[in-house]
Amino acid sequence: MAIPQSFIEQLRMSCDIEDVISSYVPLKRAGRNKTCLCPFHSEKSPSLVVYEDTQSFYCFGCGAGGDVITFIRRIENLDYVEAVKLLAARAGLTVPEDGESSRASHLKQRVLELNREAARFFHACLKSPAGKAGMDYFLGRGLTPKTITAYGLGYAPDSWDSLRKHLLQKGFRDEEMFAAAVVAKGRSGSYYDQFRGRVMFPIIDLRGNVIAFGGRVLGDGKPKYLNSADTPVFKKSRNLFSLNFAKNETGGRLILAEGYMDVIAIWQAGFHNVVATLGTALTAEQARLISQYAKEVIIAYDSDGPGQAATQRAVGLFEEVGVAAKVLGITGAKDPDEYIKKFGATRFKMLLDGADSVTDFELSKLRREADLDTETGKVEYLKKTVQFLSDLHNPLEREVYAGKIAEEIGVSRETVLTQAKALAAKKKRAQDKREWREIETNRAAYRDRINPQRAKFLKEAKAEEGILAFLYKNPDSLEYILNRLGENGFVTDFNAKVFRIFAGKIQNNITLDLTAVAGDFSNEEMGRIAGIIASAEDSGNAKKQLDDYIDVLIQHKNRVDSETVAQLTPQEIYQRIRQNKQKDS
Ligand code: GTP
Ligand code: MN
Repeated sequence: MAIPQSFIEQLRMSCDIEDVISSYVPLKRAGRNKTCLCPFHSEKSPSLVVYEDTQSFYCFGCGAGGDVITFIRRIENLDYVEAVKLLAARAGLTVPEDGESSRASHLKQRVLELNREAARFFHACLKSPAGKAGMDYFLGRGLTPKTITAYGLGYAPDSWDSLRKHLLQKGFRDEEMFAAAVVAKGRSGSYYDQFRGRVMFPIIDLRGNVIAFGGRVLGDGKPKYLNSADTPVFKKSRNLFSLNFAKNETGGRLILAEGYMDVIAIWQAGFHNVVATLGTALTAEQARLISQYAKEVIIAYDSDGPGQAATQRAVGLFEEVGVAAKVLGITGAKDPDEYIKKFGATRFKMLLDGADSVTDFELSKLRREADLDTETGKVEYLKKTVQFLSDLHNPLEREVYAGKIAEEIGVSRETVLTQAKALAAKKKRAQDKREWREIETNRAAYRDRINPQRAKFLKEAKAEEGILAFLYKNPDSLEYILNRLGENGFVTDFNAKVFRIFAGKIQNNITLDLTAVAGDFSNEEMGRIAGIIASAEDSGNAKKQLDDYIDVLIQHKNRVDSETVAQLTPQEIYQRIRQNKQKDS
């Protein structure tokens, strides 16, 4: 590992795992430790434990675990070095650079400079005679010159090499353009402009860097929108269009639209707290990102079928990250852009202010579908609404809506409420069961991947894990373990590797903790190691237990030896005895 161990130790001192994790998910005290809902799988009751004393975390649900660096690697989707850098920045430290990581960060730097230059080029083209078609398009869609400048919109000429030529002249190389995904590579290995004859939307991150582009055809060509592929500086699933403008304007509330043009139209109408995903459905990462800036989100998706399905999905994701979602019921127009053009900004504001709570949105949908004039229709409606009420977590909300529904069909509120409560209890039991089953299956699958020999040598593997956990807590026992077991006493390869690396740290006088080994293992392996340590049983006599574990491994070795001996010819046996005698003398 290229980052000096001394720096890693310094970093560990400055980044308390509880502080770091609690900046992503709220922690609750549970005895000596803290727990939370695991951000790495979907669950309704907490199974992730944060251990203050070992500065580690472990999810008993999905097996995610490790130290603070592993946590950042997983949640921010970064590699080891990037995670170390992020934590260092958080703690106000600077990572000493080595060759490889400085090469990687140099490329990122170049890609960012290149993107900025490309954005300037597209913008200049838009304003030049050559970009007339693009300018006409934007003006035709009602954008003002001020909006065009604010968003740095542009035009990519309908040519195979105008951007490439411009960038070459500015000193950028083809490989750098390819890394930035602004050029593509043909079969013959030659490079050509990715965006041609399109109006361009630069995508800007929270630090003001141009990280990617979206481009729209002027007519009806396909694809309508072309978005940058993921690059070293851009990941679609993690970024939001216009968050750089919206982040300081939220007042706790964000509008989430479906596309570039909706965002820009809403922004131009005076609502600057608006963002969109980048040509994909909302991801859990984006929902979490939004939760860092807003307590409430208004979903302003298209009024068509796909838009409503996407709304449904987004509602679920926001619930998981604790953001209150409201749904904009757009009528008389396909999307916000069209609505504003047709009815104006004032009507749009009224729409925003009157946005339905998700509950209203769902219930009015059920009411529209129901036929409340017939008895069967009423019963059907009651069934569906009870289903729906049973999913509401807030008891007060449940009571209020139960009252409304009761009135609509002429029954008592108690009737509705009792049914909803009973159903909720039933669902909770089923949910618990499901989560538990999932845990079991995950464990089984997980075990196989990390330590495939574990199932075959279960007793030995468990003994090894006991030894590893003991060694982790008592590094001074290394010599004793080595004396009894020798260098190669472990049976399963994965546990043997963990032992070897633990031993290496101890022998080099490095404080043994998960952070010290985070650079040696993958996220999944770290989870496994955290699990081994978290699951270690603390019997009264740990030393006796250690001896028992060692005995298991020694017995295994003897058994294998005798099995081997049984297969030897007399001559080979004789040779072995001679060798052993030589060794002993
Ligand atoms: P306009 O037609 O320009 O008003 O766009 P729109 O935003 O109304 O388009 P639509 O509702 O069709 O799409 C919403 C968003 O989905 C767009 O802003 C794009 O980000 C994305 N999108 C639409 N079409 C495509 C496509 O063909 N490819 C990709 N990758 N994304 C698309
Ligand atoms: Mn549109």
